[in-house]
Amino acid sequence: MNQVVLIPGDGIGPEITAAVLKILDAAGAQVDWVKAEAGMTAFENSGNPLPEETLAKIREHRIVLKGPLTTPVGSGFRSINVSLRQEFNLFSNIRPARSLPGIDTPFKDVDLVLFRENTQGLYSGIERWANEDHTRAESIALITREASENIIGAAFDYATKHKRKKVTLVHKANILKLSTGLFLKVGNEIAQQYPDIEYEDLIVDNMAMQMVMNPSRFDVVVTTNLFGDILSDLASGLVGGLGLTGSANIGREHAMFEAVHGSAPDIAGQGKANPTALLFSAILMLEHIGQNDVGARINDAIMKVLADKDACTADLGGKSSTGAYGDAVIAAMS
Ligand code: NAI
Ligand code: MG
Repeated sequence: MNQVVLIPGDGIGPEITAAVLKILDAAGAQVDWVKAEAGMTAFENSGNPLPEETLAKIREHRIVLKGPLTTPVGSGFRSINVSLRQEFNLFSNIRPARSLPGIDTPFKDVDLVLFRENTQGLYSGIERWANEDHTRAESIALITREASENIIGAAFDYATKHKRKKVTLVHKANILKLSTGLFLKVGNEIAQQYPDIEYEDLIVDNMAMQMVMNPSRFDVVVTTNLFGDILSDLASGLVGGLGLTGSANIGREHAMFEAVHGSAPDIAGQGKANPTALLFSAILMLEHIGQNDVGARINDAIMKVLADKDACTADLGGKSSTGAYGDAVIAAMS
């Protein structure tokens, strides 16, 4: 039995978490859930969106399944997601996007895995007003060799382990010569150590165009924090939207699994949310803790249910509620 910290999260978080837990249970996942709070829920209950008690549970149990979190706007708190990634040095944010049966999109053969540097770049949190009347603002794009080696190395190791053919490094070294220039330089060096894997680098704006024109040419993609944030939502859009893409945040000691999407306040509490993204994240978690067979069973069931449009949630043009969709996945497992 693995102990995993469970943060249901805000907005649609509790609804999709309930559906996911029911499915994991039915699939026979051996997980002992340790519940914890963060985000708006924690802020309302304790005045702190990231309570020490939650950090202590993560330190102890090391694995987290997390619903989306709303950072209270105007509260003076930093993004809880960014804080969690930095606190536990979860430097790899792995975001797979794969074409799915029955999902109507212009592309049928997308199968890319995006590695986003997760702790620095323009999200390093180094920001300041550069003058007293607040008409000039500065945000620092911090890049270190160490963090670049970590994320690019993780992308190449993943490509090797999963028999992927190519790694594409995305940057803007023609303009951001020092910061993303360093990232590119480290990539060029690391690529030499993996002669069996094809390597290319692309400038981010060109990458955005090519992902929309011909996404099947990409395999493993590695990039800095801001570019990875934007391109991974773009990748979600290529395969049917934010309701369908899971992610893993992995460091040396800790790992946190979450959907790519946010708390979707526009549909929260209405039983409309699609739990598949969180479910795919839970499958990545099951693989991480060695319960691959349970993950595969759930994955097969998802493929069957997605192929039947009516059984899907409204974001995919279906008629099911969050709970009914979850029950259909459970039924498809037996
Ligand atoms: P969002 O991802 O919550 O929503 C964008 C759009 O996609 C909305 O129309 C929403 O209804 C739809 N959507 C998202 N997930 C869906 C699902 N599972 N099923 C069906 N439709 C879905 O992005 P938004 O509105 O920009 O952010 C809302 C809040 O979420 C903000 O407070 C933001 O900071 C937070 N957020 C948290 C993240 C996290 O916890 N990792 C990631 C992104 C945003
Ligand atoms: Mg994002």
